[in-house]
Amino acid sequence: MISKPKGTVDLIKTDSKYYKYISDVFDAYCEKYNYKFIRTPIFEASELFHRGVGDSSDIVRKETYDFKDRGDRNITLRPEGTAGVVRSFIENKMYADVIQPVKLYYNGTMYRYERPQSGRLREFTQLGVEIFGSNDPLIDAEIISLPINIYNSLGIENTVVKINSLGDNESRENYKKALKEYIKPHLNDLCSDCKERFEKNPLRILDCKIDKDSDILKNAPKISNYLSDKSKSHFKKVIEYLELLEINYEINENLVRGLDYYTDTVFEIETNLKELGTANVLGAGGRYNNLVQDLGGPETPAVGFALGIDRLIAILKLKEINIPIKNEIDAYIMYVNETEKEKAIYLNQNLRLNGFISEINSLNKTLKAQFKEADRYNAKYLIILNSEDFKESLITIKDNITKEEEKIKELDLIEYLDTHL
Ligand code: HAM
Repeated sequence: MISKPKGTVDLIKTDSKYYKYISDVFDAYCEKYNYKFIRTPIFEASELFHRGVGDSSDIVRKETYDFKDRGDRNITLRPEGTAGVVRSFIENKMYADVIQPVKLYYNGTMYRYERPQSGRLREFTQLGVEIFGSNDPLIDAEIISLPINIYNSLGIENTVVKINSLGDNESRENYKKALKEYIKPHLNDLCSDCKERFEKNPLRILDCKIDKDSDILKNAPKISNYLSDKSKSHFKKVIEYLELLEINYEINENLVRGLDYYTDTVFEIETNLKELGTANVLGAGGRYNNLVQDLGGPETPAVGFALGIDRLIAILKLKEINIPIKNEIDAYIMYVNETEKEKAIYLNQNLRLNGFISEINSLNKTLKAQFKEADRYNAKYLIILNSEDFKESLITIKDNITKEEEKIKELDLIEYLDTHL
């Protein structure tokens, strides 16, 4: 037997029902928020992620699936959705669209060579949104309100938005300088990863999993003291709008995020479920006002968010949240001989084309076994065919709950089900 690769899942049975339900709810909300669907390739030129997600990020340094294709091109399986959407925004000149800002949503599998554990997979699905062309803090608040409303409607209510501002370029450069000056004498007391981050990406030292509770980091200079007036007032407005929308938030000055492209607002949405451990981050995002330009497009403010669907499935299962899953069919068509079978095939298609869920015996079952199968499917109506009745164009229909049955004209079947279901 060949097993699935480490860190991947088969979505089957309950999981696949939850998956479908969550992505349907996500799609419905994105449509309400007036986002347009976008699909980009699962693999892209490796350079996109080096320049987009960033060479100094853990994702690009340690986690990408890179390979050369048969044409000797450097290809990477996307580790996240934003870089590909930005590439597409530029390549398709969406910055020139009449309707601005450009609001996009997507779903798709992402690939990261992580150490697999609960809620952390090597192939996982993200649902995400990106908005291009507006620097208004109302857009930051909208991007945060969308997932909160989605979680609430899925029955996941105890969430908190951890939020911070990384400021604009000027704020960040000033802060990085101050942070490095402060850290330098303590560098030997920090972990080996932090030593490496010191040169390449000093902000990441702040959310180091190993050193985060050390006094060195607790006493580090705060980014809020280095924000420019513009960044400060942007962040203040975002917070005001979150309050207006009654969104539960906490400012966390050590939140810096693992991808290099962020500017100003960054956030992660957490749930308080202990069972999830570090997989309690249900989704995350932020502003990336430099990325479109860094990837060769015109200067364009942008903000986005993505959630991991696999973690949501785990929560819905853990909390035993009931979802409106259809576990019944409208009609089961029964037959015995070949003439009846042909009629059954025809009627089955007719029912489906008229919007009913119907099923038919395809395992050569006896009539008795077909009755049992109809019950397993929770069929509401049984359509029992008897070739004797065909001369008068009649069929037998039985209510599988009341067990009442009657003969009706074949032509009246659709109308009958329309009025009875
Ligand atoms: P991220 O924080 O790397 O951000 O991922 C977003 C979400 O994807 C996480 O909060 C988590 O729910 C899920 N996720 C990440 N890695 C895994 C994994 N290995 N297994 C299962 N789920 C995972 C981004 O990817 C950014 N592109 C978000 C964004 C969009 N920022 C701006 N626009």
